[in-house]
Amino acid sequence: MKRLFVLAAAATGLIAYAQPFPGAKPITLVVPFAAGGPTDRVARDLAKAMGKAMGDGANFVVENVNGAGGTIGATKVAKAAPDGHTLLIYHIGMASTPALYRKLQYKPLEDFEYLGLINEVPMMLIGKRQLRANNYRDFENHVRANAGKLNIAHAGLGSASHLCSLMWQSAIKADQAMATIPFGGTAPAMNALVGGQVDLMCDQTTNTTGQIEAGRVKAFAVTSAQRLSGNMLLKDYPTLQEMGLKGFNLTIWHGLYAPKGTPSAVLTQLNSVLKLALNDPDFIKKEEGLGALVVNDQRSDPAAHKAFVASEIAKLKPLIEAGGKFAD
Ligand code: MLT
Repeated sequence: MKRLFVLAAAATGLIAYAQPFPGAKPITLVVPFAAGGPTDRVARDLAKAMGKAMGDGANFVVENVNGAGGTIGATKVAKAAPDGHTLLIYHIGMASTPALYRKLQYKPLEDFEYLGLINEVPMMLIGKRQLRANNYRDFENHVRANAGKLNIAHAGLGSASHLCSLMWQSAIKADQAMATIPFGGTAPAMNALVGGQVDLMCDQTTNTTGQIEAGRVKAFAVTSAQRLSGNMLLKDYPTLQEMGLKGFNLTIWHGLYAPKGTPSAVLTQLNSVLKLALNDPDFIKKEEGLGALVVNDQRSDPAAHKAFVASEIAKLKPLIEAGGKFAD
């Protein structure tokens, strides 16, 4: 990759000099959830592919800054120096949190530069091994028969797992909202589920596939409109639409962001490196093996990525306000 020289004003602002990007300074990729979860996993795989594409010893460092459904990490990047050395990987939470947090510390569509969409990932409803249910129908009947007695884990208000639990509970018209147990990410939440400390969770296939394969959790349905017919392990799980939840369709997406004001030449370079990574056969194989799909349409372009997020914000707002909870 040709090294980019960015004209940058020196501290005095009087002398401009060319400096290579990224230079010796590492590029920090902030993951707004705990290590080991689906967002962290795709970030580490992407960092490896982008580092390979950038060449010249480019050095990506992943930093986990979790809490509040990913908004703490997103705030950190919104307020970071706009020099291309601090990036954010965030998912549907970028679109759900404006409807869930009254005092969000940033404006999603104004405080970030959009670098492109990365992947789309279906979710699955899963339960602890001890649950007396071996298919979705039994599972839903068990939930109804134990109204108010079961709990559901998630990664904080506005996280994908929280959004899914809100949408699913409102779709099945559960008599009473379940107790929800928040974690810093779905990696710790999954540990609690495997340990039987929590009852249910809705999580991305990239985090559930290994646990299902190992028999550590029970899986009941997928949240996408279509079955995951291309995935040998997941192809036989029904969609929630097949189980009678009309129109239920939730697919999580991850995007890449830089602070507003990052130089356009740096943004152009980062977007072209992202596109090389999205076409990296190793990255694609890893994603598809876990039920995810790498974006290969125009949403890997910044403008289309931003338009997509704007449409998702507009789509989710009424849905969340109809059944969601608000946090300060
Ligand atoms: C979510 O539920 O938002 C994510 O799965 C959290 C995570 O990546 O850990």
